[in-house]
Amino acid sequence: MAKKPLHFHLNGAEKAVFVEDGQNLLDVLRRGVGDLTPKYGCGQGTCGTCTVLIDGDPHLSCLTLAENAEGRTVTTTAGLATGNQLHPLQAAFMENFAAQCGYCTPGMLMAAKSLLDKNPSPSRQDVVEAISGNICRCTGYEPIINAILDAAKSRGAHSYG
Ligand code: FES
Ligand code: FES
Repeated sequence: MAKKPLHFHLNGAEKAVFVEDGQNLLDVLRRGVGDLTPKYGCGQGTCGTCTVLIDGDPHLSCLTLAENAEGRTVTTTAGLATGNQLHPLQAAFMENFAAQCGYCTPGMLMAAKSLLDKNPSPSRQDVVEAISGNICRCTGYEPIINAILDAAKSRGAHSYG
């Protein structure tokens, strides 16, 4: 199968890979460049665990053609922490017990980051809407919503990076 070159920025680093026609971004991230933080759940756009940010907006990477990332900036959960310093959202998820199996967590974090980057003081309803495409089978959503609201409150003490 023909392969095409793809160049993009991933969590601050330039990436150059070859992709196949029709290959999705999730596959390129996980197998092509070894970022295992975006998870494969349904592969059909219904669970949200593969969510990554492209130029700051959330996208379902399982449904995104890799070639659409050409020249763009992709952010995954691997890009959230700064060294050993957790991103405020990651810290808030821990403090609020917002992860059990953790499979949904990367997608939740990316949806939440996009929200807080655009709306630093979201209402509860804003949070609910922002994560409405992300399914969690473990926590019942309340700890996740509380974590995102707590992270928003801690703004000022932290940068969302
Ligand atoms: S794996 Fe992409 S939405 Fe489920
Ligand atoms: S913590 Fe298990 S699916 Fe959300």
